[in-house]
Amino acid sequence: MTQDLKHIVEANGQEQVFKFWNTLDESEQDQLFRQLEEIDFANLNDLVQEYVLQKPETHIPEDLSPAPYFPLEPEDKKQQKLYQQAFAAGEKLMHTGKVAALTVAGGQGTRLGFDGPKGTYPIAPVSKKSLFQYFAESLRRASVKYGHDFTWYIMTSKLNNQPTQDFFEKNNYFGMAPENVIFFVQGTMPAIDYDGKLLLGEKDSLALAPDGHGGTLLALRRSGCLEKMKKDGVEYISYFQVDNPLVSVINPLFVGLHAKENAEMSALMLAKTGPFEKLGNFCVSDNKLMIIEYSDLPDELTEQRNEDGSLKFIAGSPAIHVISRKFVEKLTSEGRLSLPWHRADKKIPYINSDGMKVTPEEANGVKLESFIFDALPLAAHTMILEGDREEEFAPTKNKTGVDSVESCREMIIERDARRLECAGVKVPRRENGTTAVEIEISPLAVMDDEDCVNYCRANGITEIVDNGKPVYLK
Ligand code: UTP
Repeated sequence: MTQDLKHIVEANGQEQVFKFWNTLDESEQDQLFRQLEEIDFANLNDLVQEYVLQKPETHIPEDLSPAPYFPLEPEDKKQQKLYQQAFAAGEKLMHTGKVAALTVAGGQGTRLGFDGPKGTYPIAPVSKKSLFQYFAESLRRASVKYGHDFTWYIMTSKLNNQPTQDFFEKNNYFGMAPENVIFFVQGTMPAIDYDGKLLLGEKDSLALAPDGHGGTLLALRRSGCLEKMKKDGVEYISYFQVDNPLVSVINPLFVGLHAKENAEMSALMLAKTGPFEKLGNFCVSDNKLMIIEYSDLPDELTEQRNEDGSLKFIAGSPAIHVISRKFVEKLTSEGRLSLPWHRADKKIPYINSDGMKVTPEEANGVKLESFIFDALPLAAHTMILEGDREEEFAPTKNKTGVDSVESCREMIIERDARRLECAGVKVPRRENGTTAVEIEISPLAVMDDEDCVNYCRANGITEIVDNGKPVYLK
């Protein structure tokens, strides 16, 4: 251990991390040393002061207004033409290899309480395909449809990278070419107790947690993925979260409008179901687009309505973006990226000064994360497109209830039933309108309404019969 680092750690009042140093063997010392080396001690005290010893207050700008967006359905002939042109432009960008997919899968998925990376969760209602398989097959279908083998970038964390890669290996990359599936690992942040001290998770390790989905941007640079994208001619990144199997993995209209509007970063928006739905709110202040979290938007703004009764702040964020590669290059050009930190109070297991592992019952410290949407105000140009909730958003955060495995599976069933009906297929429904049979269509066969029409025609499907068994169409 160089005396320099030891000195720096002690000068910053963090000497407790060496409590067990003399009991560690060489490789254990090496691990702790490498973790400490990654910490930006020059800024640690400011960080502790700002985010740990006090609760940072969210500043809500006075000039906050709702963000403008392109509506789901074009409003007039001119807009209709724009959408047609954008769709065609998006298809061309996909066909010519200018677009790659990116999934953020580095989170800890604590609410789901599943033992393993969240992407390995068997989400599909009938086939029980995992989230990763569902996305892989959607991308394979898109590759056939757009005549280009898409590359899929998957961000993991140090905590789940190996099991994630093992899962893909064991399942033959779900039929994708292994060279088209690129894993990259996000950064970590040390957990800090309420006295501002770095916690030890083990005697030879700090308590570390992934640094938030905002970490994607720097991780893309540090991992060399940005360079690879440039070499491959990728200009646009289709960004989505690992827990939303309904998402269009690459959406031609969204990509095309992003490019046509010269946006550096774009966002899909959903009309909120009510003022207090737990989605971030798209807002504008000082001509900058930003997302204000649902818990931070003052009630009087949240509840403001237009004359027709609709919500003023209607635009909620499902965390689906198109990001220009050049924008990520610009933001990270100095090898650093300053996004604000968000504080989360957590129960953090730690090693106490007697060397005992403690699993606290109450929050005992703070984890810090950065969020991808905080890059929006840094973009010179942005674009928001309204998405169709039933086609785009089924988040799997919990096991049951709101945003759960249950609700997600129901939404997949309903989406697939609707597609069949669009294709003229008779689907049995209950009195309350919900689908009476568990239906699932493989994403390898169908990725949109057009596909569904062709698929049903080719397979002579005109009716789904309710014989008490789930139906899986592949
Ligand atoms: P969430 O905010 O839902 O967090 O992440 P989570 O860790 O998955 O789940 P909880 O809060 O512990 O229950 C939204 C998306 O961002 C990714 C997640 O994998 C998910 O796709 N994410 C989150 C990262 O990739 N890295 C992070 O550090 C945090």
